[in-house]
Amino acid sequence: MLRVEPSGQACGARVTGVDLAAPLSNPSVSEIRSAWLEHHVLAFPGQRMDDDALERFTQALGGFGSDPFFAPIPGRQHIAAILREADERTPLFAENWHSDWSFQAHPPAGTCLLAIEIPPKGGDTLFANQHAAWDALSPAKQAEWGDLIAIHSARLAYAPDGSYGERDKGRSMAIRPGEEARQEQTHPLVPAHPETGRRGFYSTLGYIVGIEGMDDDDAFPLLREIAAWQAREEFVYRHVWEPDMLILWDNRSLLHRATGGYQGYRRELHRTTIAAWEG
Ligand code: SIN
Repeated sequence: MLRVEPSGQACGARVTGVDLAAPLSNPSVSEIRSAWLEHHVLAFPGQRMDDDALERFTQALGGFGSDPFFAPIPGRQHIAAILREADERTPLFAENWHSDWSFQAHPPAGTCLLAIEIPPKGGDTLFANQHAAWDALSPAKQAEWGDLIAIHSARLAYAPDGSYGERDKGRSMAIRPGEEARQEQTHPLVPAHPETGRRGFYSTLGYIVGIEGMDDDDAFPLLREIAAWQAREEFVYRHVWEPDMLILWDNRSLLHRATGGYQGYRRELHRTTIAAWEG
């Protein structure tokens, strides 16, 4: 039987009582899905999973999303390595708050990360609950921000002149920047979650590069104010990794970011994204 222990923080739960190395039964998939929608990020410790099992799990949760700007690991189409070598000196990957690929027309519902090599200290992943951030906002701010339309783009990160572009030398991850990163896509700043109906901020400054109908001189200070609110300590869950752990999170209700603190140790995780929910 699935056991779900909430983290006691703003989101997150630890889930035991299921073997993800084996094919999942339908009751298990629906129990996992409802725990995922309730707690937003689930950690499954003690899982001896390989890449086949990671793919099977992703398929069971909704199928693969489309992952631009990463080359997949050899022999797989849908698994990317989040990798940092022990002696690597590049800026940390994904250190800014974001929601995965929010610049897409149909961004991924969720993301899975499987521990391959976990350093003995550091490398925690932080998650910020965006329903909590919205619910805690004053009615006046909700009225001011609730109907804004955000403009998303990958350009600051993945365009040739972006932070993972041509000037980014010596990175071990297989990142593939490109001109297509300059494309733009709009989404409501505070959509209703497509499965639960709860409102929450979607994505943040970084992948959000503007606000529809607003000059950049007005939009950027506002986006900075919103971003500071979205990441307040009371909305954050700190995920501490263990070997043999899989995590699964909801990109529609959370922001996430990587942290460092493991210089001198290698860190590798295998990542899949889960396709947008089609109802
Ligand atoms: C990611 O944002 O995909 C990576 C998070 C991490 O490395 O902790």
